[in-house]
Amino acid sequence: MSNKIQIFDTTLRDGEQVPGCQLKTEEKIIVARALEALGVDVIEAGFPISSPGDFLSVVEISKAVKEPVVCGLTRAKKDDIDVASEALRHAKRGRIHTGIGSSDVHIKHKFKSTREQVLEQGVWAVKYAKSKGYEVEFFAEDAGRADLTFLAQLIEAVIAAGADVVNIPDTTGYCLPHLYGKRIKYLVDHVKNIDRAVISVHCHNDLGLATANTISGLLNGARQAEVTINGIGERAGNTSLEEVAMILQVHKDLALTTNIKPEKIYGLSKLVSGMMRMPVQANKAIVGANAFAHSSGIHQDGFLKHAENYEIINPAQVGVPSSSIILTARSGRAALKHRMELLGHKYEGEELNTLYENFLLVADEKKEVKDEDLVMLAANMPVLVK
Ligand code: KIV
Ligand code: ZN
Repeated sequence: MSNKIQIFDTTLRDGEQVPGCQLKTEEKIIVARALEALGVDVIEAGFPISSPGDFLSVVEISKAVKEPVVCGLTRAKKDDIDVASEALRHAKRGRIHTGIGSSDVHIKHKFKSTREQVLEQGVWAVKYAKSKGYEVEFFAEDAGRADLTFLAQLIEAVIAAGADVVNIPDTTGYCLPHLYGKRIKYLVDHVKNIDRAVISVHCHNDLGLATANTISGLLNGARQAEVTINGIGERAGNTSLEEVAMILQVHKDLALTTNIKPEKIYGLSKLVSGMMRMPVQANKAIVGANAFAHSSGIHQDGFLKHAENYEIINPAQVGVPSSSIILTARSGRAALKHRMELLGHKYEGEELNTLYENFLLVADEKKEVKDEDLVMLAANMPVLVK
């Protein structure tokens, strides 16, 4: 089995479904080009039948990018597949992503159908999509809660019908990492023709487990990860691209690689959050404002002695300009001394102690002590010392 993980980015489809995050076609083209530069393998450009705007976006993205496969989402319906096929006609490599619910909850309460009918419709949709001449990816929606024996039957049948990729989504973010991994392993072991398709993992973050589940799926044999920039997506979001890419980068022992150029991650995160007006939470891994900020005295002292004491990633590796030391009432002398030196003031011994006492008085009043406060402290030092 190959060690190469295909990165399937769905920022422009699952991510863009978030209320208030809709982008115009011109904006989507900018994001798609940036995703291509980042090195993603597949761009899910939209759900062509959902609106004329989405249709146009898939057409224009198909023209705009050269390297990545361009993918359009459909339900397992003729009209959806016809429209997606039309939207993808300019793609160098196009993919139709079709599928249907696979859990009994979906089969009963969404489709008012039966397992047999769902299997039949899934097989039909794959054959029909395949007849259009594109790559076909089949999604078994809500696979995280599906009966495993039925899921295996469904996956075997759609691969026999021609599916090139089989997507096993944890649509509701329900699974625990070891159990999601076990599901993927079950399919690897029980679907006879599994070697004819790539298994894809698509996880939602309802319990904060999307990234953990994705990694677990990859460790158990999946070779494509479906992700979004900043983890945006329905409800609590999708697996975030930057987390998966950097986990595989940091844990070289896993021996799984991607084509992602990590130094482009931060720029793209900023681009997407700005365009979608969707702020990134400050403590978000890799791209949050505090991801490389050190604020407590013990950490600051350790970081200043040797960055690797408190950083497992060099910020420059992901395009973040630098680490930062935030001065607060929890900061220590080492950080204060360091910052003062950057501002051109050298304090040692008793003088540093006095400066630190004065600093704490200011810090208790403010959430963060900024450079301008330090300049004032330095200017007042002789007066305060007396
Ligand atoms: O979460 C999900 O199941 C999806 C499918 C449409 C792939 O987004
Ligand atoms: Zn999804």
